[in-house]
Amino acid sequence: MTGDHYFTAEPSTAAVPREVEFSVAGRDYTLTSAGGVFSADRLDPGTAVLLRKADLPAPGTTGDLLDLGCGFGPITCVLADTAPAATVWAVDVNERARALTAANAARTGAADRVRVTAPDAVPDSVTFAQLWSNPPIRIGKDELHRLLLRWLPRLAPDGVAWLVVARHLGGDSLHRWLVEQGWQVERRASQKGYRVLRVTR
Ligand SMILES: C[S@@+](CC[C@H](N)C(=O)[O-])C[C@H]1O[C@@H](n2cnc3c(N)ncnc32)[C@H](O)[C@@H]1O
Repeated sequence: MTGDHYFTAEPSTAAVPREVEFSVAGRDYTLTSAGGVFSADRLDPGTAVLLRKADLPAPGTTGDLLDLGCGFGPITCVLADTAPAATVWAVDVNERARALTAANAARTGAADRVRVTAPDAVPDSVTFAQLWSNPPIRIGKDELHRLLLRWLPRLAPDGVAWLVVARHLGGDSLHRWLVEQGWQVERRASQKGYRVLRVTR
């Protein structure tokens, strides 16, 4: 046993590699995962609902897309695949998650279009056409709010954010809080206990 959380910066859990297979929009993915990252053994069901219910970027999408809290990179790889003319920024505090995402971007042939970085390494000049996140609820409500207040304002004026949150982990209160902060929030889907929120200015 270790005291690691999935958001530990440098996990001490053994990095035993494993394969995670899933399909999104008719395309099959096989990615590498490892202990010490979020949902290491399978595509998280919340992420699966997000990728099924949100509007994936159109193939001609350009500009910068953000995967906030990329884990081993499932959202990043799907975005890079569906929007080959865009650049995907994959951000995570967990070093192992970043290494896995970089490896998975290479594995899916998208390494040249994916920038994997720690949060502080994203240049201030970058604004995002889209922000995608299965956010780290376990960091606590105040931290989560700080995280969203840091990144949502970096959306381009006509940008859109897609978030998935389990209802029992506060999906509806997060929805209300975002509205209180002045964001337009649409509950795009509710499936298997997950809320998919579309957030715009
Ligand atoms: C719920 S997991 C989602 C992982 C991945 N996107 C997926 O769908 O499997 C949230 C991720 O956010 C990361 N995280 C936690 N705090 C963060 C922060 N302050 N900035 C960026 N990422 C963070 C965690 O390390 C974790 O990988």
